[in-house]
Amino acid sequence: MDFFNYSDGQLMAESVSVAQAAERFGTPCYLYSRATIERHWHAFSDAMGGREHLICYAVKANSNLAVLNLMARLGSGFDIVSGGELARVLQAGGDPAKVVFSGVGKTEAEMRQALRAGILCFNVESEAELERLNRVAAELGVSAPVSLRINPDIDANSHPYISTGLKQNKFGIPWDRAVPVYQRAAQLEHLRVTGMDCHIGSQLTEARPFVEALERLLGLMDQLGDEGIELEHLDLGGGLGVPYTDERPPSPAEYVKALLPSLGDRQLKLILEPGRAIMANAGILVTKVEFLKRGEDRDFAIVDAAMNDLLRPSLYGAVQPIVPVQPRQGEARLYDIVGPVCETGDFLGKERRLALAPGDLLAVRGAGAYGFTMASNYNSRPRVAELMADGERLHLIREREPMAQLWQGERLLPE
Ligand code: LLP
Repeated sequence: MDFFNYSDGQLMAESVSVAQAAERFGTPCYLYSRATIERHWHAFSDAMGGREHLICYAVKANSNLAVLNLMARLGSGFDIVSGGELARVLQAGGDPAKVVFSGVGKTEAEMRQALRAGILCFNVESEAELERLNRVAAELGVSAPVSLRINPDIDANSHPYISTGLKQNKFGIPWDRAVPVYQRAAQLEHLRVTGMDCHIGSQLTEARPFVEALERLLGLMDQLGDEGIELEHLDLGGGLGVPYTDERPPSPAEYVKALLPSLGDRQLKLILEPGRAIMANAGILVTKVEFLKRGEDRDFAIVDAAMNDLLRPSLYGAVQPIVPVQPRQGEARLYDIVGPVCETGDFLGKERRLALAPGDLLAVRGAGAYGFTMASNYNSRPRVAELMADGERLHLIREREPMAQLWQGERLLPE
């Protein structure tokens, strides 16, 4: 549930008029709702009851400092995948002792940065990474906390680009190598083996694959226990889906409830890394209709936001609702909602039935996760402003990129 609703014929973000926000800060802009973010975060945390746990928000979903700072104030942990994300978390006041570091390609510099910051755990994805981490930790004279990301070979039934837990995917340590790699990790002097993790995919709409992955991992943990390797935590990754249109994923509370029985009374800390489920429906992309164009085959609404601002429709064929900010009377027609970028693949939505006039504002819903973070400057388009509604207040949390920033750092060749 979110806090974007109509009141008196106007779309509101909490108690802020979306039209007034657009008037004040221009379009396109991302607009988030603080109450929605907090509600979603608490939905995970509250469902845990008394069980020891840590919610590590997946920073890649939305890494604006104001968002990360809200998470930090809630006591959240963070799942990061780069040195840049770690720097953001620290800049936003996040606690490094609640940070887990995922990703298949951690560089030595990133390992040093994270070891110096004192993160909770490295989610190691390969044998080579394990050896590298041991070496870097030795150089710094410290011991690195390690979890191994196990690939449980489970079909998440999601889009192939965002399914990660099958054996043909690049992620994690293959199931049949898990025990020997744990044994190796336990031998390495500068590693401290503390956990096990997995992440089977994103936008999952049922709890079953998560429960299966959890049970597989628990079985493996028992096996390791017999070998004298005891772990403190199990990190099940992120991946819970959201209703963009007619998907009906379990709620965070239902998802957590589905997991808890398998854990029983094990003394094991459960870590989750949700990104989308917290942020997607906590944000909209507000865009203005520049032109309406009759095609031979279909009509086009040409808007001022484009694939460089919101890539999901172009990249995955993702369908996100597009709604009028101030619905108007009149004939509804079928439109492709397209941007100004010079690519046929530049669309935000296809065949949407809307009554439109030039100058109208539209809101692309479900845009709070993997929206701004996947934006680029393609076609030399400055990245858009980000705003946050908080009750009746509206905050600018990232200014629209000034033109000159487009070539910042670029140099001409000498004469
Ligand atoms: N943990 C790990 C290790 C991950 O790789 C991911 C996402 C997450 C947590 C968070 O997953 P979530 O709860 O957000 O599903 N750009 C794509 C999504 C890519 C997700 C990649 N990994 C999209 O827009 O649909």
